[in-house]
Amino acid sequence: MSKIVEIAEHKPIPLIREAICTVRENTPVNSQYRHLVLDAPAEILDCQPGQFFHLLCRSPSAPGPFFRRPMSIYGFDAGAGTLSFLYKVAGEGTGVLATLAAGDPLSVVGPLGIGFTIPDTMRHPLLVARGVGLATLAPLALALRERGLKATAICSARSAEFLMSVSLFRSWGLEVITISDDEGSSSVENLREVVEGLMTGEGVDGVYTCGSKRITRLLKALCARHEIFGEVALEQHMACGVGVCQACVLPFERDGVREDLRVCRDGPVFNLQEVV
Ligand SMILES: Cc1cc2nc3c(=O)[nH]c(=O)nc-3n(C[C@H](O)[C@H](O)[C@H](O)COP(=O)(O)OP(=O)(O)OC[C@H]3O[C@@H](n4cnc5c(N)ncnc54)[C@H](O)[C@@H]3O)c2cc1C
Ligand code: FES
Repeated sequence: MSKIVEIAEHKPIPLIREAICTVRENTPVNSQYRHLVLDAPAEILDCQPGQFFHLLCRSPSAPGPFFRRPMSIYGFDAGAGTLSFLYKVAGEGTGVLATLAAGDPLSVVGPLGIGFTIPDTMRHPLLVARGVGLATLAPLALALRERGLKATAICSARSAEFLMSVSLFRSWGLEVITISDDEGSSSVENLREVVEGLMTGEGVDGVYTCGSKRITRLLKALCARHEIFGEVALEQHMACGVGVCQACVLPFERDGVREDLRVCRDGPVFNLQEVV
């Protein structure tokens, strides 16, 4: 007798939308990063901090990359009809993005993935961001301000030139601590001291991070030691971006059991203690 095995998604499949947006501006922020602002329809602007869009980076003159490129939401405003990204020109796809001018069309799919959670009991969250993590944590910083929470951000970069989002975070009322490789202040030892000081002396009771594996490892250990809630937004190479192809699978540990999860669909935000 044949047997039917049900291959059911454990979560309802969300509606996946593609929109052709129009570039409003695409300006350099420093020698590596650019700020892309799109005019976008309201239907795709019901976003959660930590979610991402999948951008079609096709060059008009060449075949261009076939796969879309994932990009965290840097800002979204349903009232103004805008969606923005802060991106590093890293290779072919982002190189094509850098050539976009005001008025050009851009196909985006999203919002995708699971964003950050903000526990009701949390009183003093800490954001620790490096590199592109400074983009990913920006909408979360705004959401924390809108909840009236006291928040602190540690922004880390190679040098002062790449410390983006600092003035934005400060304008939203966050206490900002900057550390950089140039100043010699971004070492794991120094960061451990700063973060433990905030946990024990300032009542930090929640941690969010993105952009660095060594910072993730450190925060996972500190959150475990101080029994503090923590989440990380992961970056991983992706193909489909919507949970079908399995290209983005990584190992995790949930309740002591090893599980392979898709960063695009089960994340990109995960509990720090689940990250292996
Ligand atoms: C959920 C998510 C959110 C992201 N948000 C941002 C963001 O806000 N700003 C930003 O600048 N970048 C972000 N990234 C990384 C961005 O997707 C890659 O830099 C981009 O896909 C590179 O494409 P490319 O064709 O220009 O480079 P490629 O030619 O494909 O690669 C150039 C270099 O970038 C690395 N790379 C390629 N894809 C990824 C990837 N998915 N993750 C990490 N490294 C990659 C390659 O290993 C290589 O070293 C995000 C990635 C993910 C998964
Ligand atoms: S990229 Fe296809 S399943 Fe995640």
